[in-house]
Amino acid sequence: MDRNVTQMMYMEVRKEWNRICDEARPRMAPKCKACKECDSARPKCGFVSSDRGRSGIRNYEKIQQIKLACDTIYEGGNGDEIDSSSDFFGYKMRAPIFNAPIAWVGNVLPNTHFKKPGVENVDGKAIDSDDYAFSKALIDGCADVGTIGWVADSKHHPLVHFYEDGLRAIKERGGLGVPTIKSWDDEKLPNKIRMADEAGAIAIATDIDCVGLGYMSINGKYDILPGLSNPKSARQLKEIFSITEKPYILKGIMTPQGAVKACEAGAAGIVVSNHAGNNLDQSLATIEVLADIKKAVGNDIKIYIDGGFRHGEDVFKALALGADGVLVGRPFMIAAEGGEAYGVSIYMQKLIWELQNAMRMTGCLSLKDITRDKIYITKEF
Ligand SMILES: Cc1cc2nc3c(=O)[nH]c(=O)nc-3n(C[C@H](O)[C@H](O)[C@H](O)COP(=O)(O)O)c2cc1C
Repeated sequence: MDRNVTQMMYMEVRKEWNRICDEARPRMAPKCKACKECDSARPKCGFVSSDRGRSGIRNYEKIQQIKLACDTIYEGGNGDEIDSSSDFFGYKMRAPIFNAPIAWVGNVLPNTHFKKPGVENVDGKAIDSDDYAFSKALIDGCADVGTIGWVADSKHHPLVHFYEDGLRAIKERGGLGVPTIKSWDDEKLPNKIRMADEAGAIAIATDIDCVGLGYMSINGKYDILPGLSNPKSARQLKEIFSITEKPYILKGIMTPQGAVKACEAGAAGIVVSNHAGNNLDQSLATIEVLADIKKAVGNDIKIYIDGGFRHGEDVFKALALGADGVLVGRPFMIAAEGGEAYGVSIYMQKLIWELQNAMRMTGCLSLKDITRDKIYITKEF
């Protein structure tokens, strides 16, 4: 890390974040404008690639309908740092915030600086993007400020080793990272689980909702390669989980029924996610379904959530509705592109301080104090 990010003042972190966005902007083009606030709104956002992108926009908008209940008259506040720490399968995080997994950077950012030298773009894609450097920025940037990064998997291409690159970054960081394996067939998925085991990953995930990914389409056709993106039955999931001793998290749960099935199959956690709205237009926002999912599974399984969360105050809202933690997607791409691991640490530190300030302003000395009565839903969902 260039500087000790955890020692910086909030204003300095904010200034650095703006500078990192400016740095990243030309390299995020043309898909992403590196907006100060990533709201998924079309037409400026080229990342939400399902037909009309309304699920991604709804994620952001519904979070904005929730407000915090300010109350600074309470016992026990002595001005020390508020305790936002949280347990993730035996590891104590400074705050329950993660980057969300993002696949194969060269596929989505033709102008990325994460390129291996000397090879040109192919079909508008930096086909040989330096996915190891990208994954390392995420994993190290999160770990440097006391949280945990997630890395992704991608379709197979002879020049792309995205999954292996992510695992290498995790292994080098002593296992502090969550690899997110696509829902491959019965041969590829177990192999990838074993690889994650060997890398010592703290937990393993599968984006079970990758079945309908719009951003995998090429020329209007789904580019689904043999073996990729299979729905799984609860029976199959049980078998998959039995391959490893590691906690297994299913990403892409959007209903209480889905959460109950994940629980019964033996998942250790779920991520309430609609893949940034990329897999299905007209789905509900993730924050809208969170409370019902919590009601259905209680404390039987860890509940994480992503989709449209941009600030620590947004993280607070999810915790108040029953989440155990929040993943943030696209802004961490900007962070890595604009400042590598340092950029990732800066954005994560900003989120942590915003969460801690929200706690201080609502009388929450630790995460368990963040309850439903600490927020208002201003319009019924
Ligand atoms: C360009 C792009 C690529 C993504 N790739 C993956 C992936 O490979 N695996 C996965 O589980 N989720 C993937 N996601 C979804 C994110 O993990 C996450 O669910 C989503 O971005 C969260 O929403 P947010 O970007 O609004 O924070 C991707 C999202 C985007 C925008």
